[in-house]
Amino acid sequence: MSIAKKFMSWVDARYPATETYEYHMSKYYAPKNFNFWYFFGVLSMVVLVNQLVTGIWLTMMFNPSAEGAFASLEYIMRDVKGGWLIRYMHSTGASAFFIVVYLHMFRGLLYGSYKKPRELVWLIGMGIYLCLMAEGFFGYLLPWGNMSYWGAQVILNLPAAIPFIGDALAEWVRGDYLISGITLNRFFALHVIAIPLVLVGLVFMHLVALHHVGSNNPDGIDIKKLKDKNGVPLDGVPFHPYYTVHDMVGIVVFFICFFAVVFFVPEGGGYFLEKPNFEVANALKTPPHIAPVWYYMPFYAILRAVPHKLGGVIAMGAAIAVLFVLPWLDRSPVRSIRYKGMLSKIALAIFVVSFVTLGYLGGTASTPTATIIGRICTILYFLYFLLMPFYTSIEKCKQPPERVTGGH
Ligand code: HEM
Repeated sequence: MSIAKKFMSWVDARYPATETYEYHMSKYYAPKNFNFWYFFGVLSMVVLVNQLVTGIWLTMMFNPSAEGAFASLEYIMRDVKGGWLIRYMHSTGASAFFIVVYLHMFRGLLYGSYKKPRELVWLIGMGIYLCLMAEGFFGYLLPWGNMSYWGAQVILNLPAAIPFIGDALAEWVRGDYLISGITLNRFFALHVIAIPLVLVGLVFMHLVALHHVGSNNPDGIDIKKLKDKNGVPLDGVPFHPYYTVHDMVGIVVFFICFFAVVFFVPEGGGYFLEKPNFEVANALKTPPHIAPVWYYMPFYAILRAVPHKLGGVIAMGAAIAVLFVLPWLDRSPVRSIRYKGMLSKIALAIFVVSFVTLGYLGGTASTPTATIIGRICTILYFLYFLLMPFYTSIEKCKQPPERVTGGH
């Protein structure tokens, strides 16, 4: 026995190293017909690692105080060797995270990946999504720019809409009568340790849950139904080496796009880093147009679509909450959009158009026309979910094939 083998058997007698590797990699049989949409899970992991590593490095040089935060960021950008690269990788990474996660979630909608038996994979994913939103929000205050300040001001005023306890609650969250160094300090603690800890834990559970039930695929059919005499699914391939190598292609293409932004357009046209944030926070100078970062815009538009403040907050919360019950709204006998009926296809198309339109509206100044379009899109957003039990049960679906289509 070679030394490496001897070492591994010593380890395996004390820790399930080989067993875990086989269970999750070399003997995890993934459907052979994964397509473009299946890159975004692994890309979410790549971005998560990028955020953790660059975040740790930024923390080494960042000063979490109202007096020092903005200046310490300038110091990182101008004086620390390579500091600009780490900072831009982190700020671009935040937007990249939401791009890949939104595409990852959309894949779930396309192929019904949230349906039985993957409800928990979806629910844990939604937990991850909430953490990401919180992480982005807490992180955005840290540079202590003027948009950081006023953006947080708008959002931290939302609890004030709650009757009776609202004002006290808003003050408790801020830790002060207005947003101050105290708020910045607690946001720092939440951003660098509390939320990342939960996030990493949830991502771990997400993968454990997925590997327990097995991956879905673009045909939405169960590959475990047809197995060879060794119990290996006929339409499955070992995750390693097939998908590890396959995923490398996606990772390389992703990095080309990612670094093109980091090197050439790190502000992302004012969407990734907003212009007022190049000025230090100033409680006496409101930016002419306060808008959240692009990834919150659809929900911000829903908030604004409702004329009543508390109503808006409830609608915004409901827009996210409804995603949690999605697995129980879809009554279709098939998973994938490929075999669902026309109604589901039209509904999904309308949903995508209204979500993107809401995103656009969330970033523009409100005009009477924009408000009406925002209201229509908000209604369409909710109808997609609320009518789902009906249109998925009355429409005529196609019969899915026995074996997966495509893949070699
Ligand atoms: C940090 C964020 C996330 C990471 C690192 C992550 C990671 C992954 C990975 C590696 C996979 C397997 C590969 C793939 O199917 O693409 C996966 C599958 C899946 N994820 Fe995520 N995910 C994240 C967020 C989410 C969110 C926000 C949702 C939805 C709310 C979600 C829902 C799902 C579902 C339903 C599957 C199974 C898909 C299928 O088998 O068709 N994930 N995730």
